[in-house]
Amino acid sequence: MRVLFIGDVVGGPGRRGLAAAMPELRERHQPDLVIVNGENSAGGMGITEKTANAIFNAGAGVITSGNHVYRHREAYEFLDRAERVIRPANYPHANPGRGHTVVEAGGMRVGVINLSGAVGLQVARSPFHEVDSILERIEADCVVVDFHAEVTSEKVAMGWHLDGRVAAVFGTHTHVPTADARVLPGGTAFISDVGMTGARTSVLGVKPEQALQALVTQMPVRFETAEDDVWVMGAVVEVDERGLADSIEQVMVPAP
Ligand SMILES: [Fe+2]
Ligand SMILES: [Fe+2]
Repeated sequence: MRVLFIGDVVGGPGRRGLAAAMPELRERHQPDLVIVNGENSAGGMGITEKTANAIFNAGAGVITSGNHVYRHREAYEFLDRAERVIRPANYPHANPGRGHTVVEAGGMRVGVINLSGAVGLQVARSPFHEVDSILERIEADCVVVDFHAEVTSEKVAMGWHLDGRVAAVFGTHTHVPTADARVLPGGTAFISDVGMTGARTSVLGVKPEQALQALVTQMPVRFETAEDDVWVMGAVVEVDERGLADSIEQVMVPAP
């Protein structure tokens, strides 16, 4: 069973780039399941029903998210209703949406868990305790985790925490891909960050001149989504019959 995981889709350029790149990615990697982080899909921050549907139409089976998930109030009811769109599980229980889901793919029940890091981000509970608790009750043949976190130390630690217990831990949130994709000794595929799907002529998806102005002047600046040189970034994991990883391959392609 092959899983293609795609990093944070940023705004319209990211959505269009994903849709344009997906036929070739499907052809090349033959995924049974495509998981896409959509937390920046609506105007560069947040997600709406419309942008989620655009990502589903591009071929996603599950959409994950992160700290920007509640940016658009009109999405709250959608998050409660959409079974294949998830938000970090370690947010307050009463918040809109759910933290994990299970889908059928390639003859397996694939559990997908979304977690937020606790370093530099606001969470209600430790991601380590939260994932242990979910793994005790989830009914799945294999599990993949989107760990949406700021610092590599916490992300690498989560890889070791889950080694041998899940098929893959994909890091998201920083929008910058890391060069540490590997299968850990216990059989868990790991990468600290898969990167983003959006304009590379940008600062994490924002027009460079605006991000620079904000940093240089330390004054409020209205951010717009950058559009030039869109790339799609992610990773492909081959999952064996034990529900663990055979391989992980990083994906970085310019949108056609
Ligand atoms: Fe993001
Ligand atoms: Fe984020």
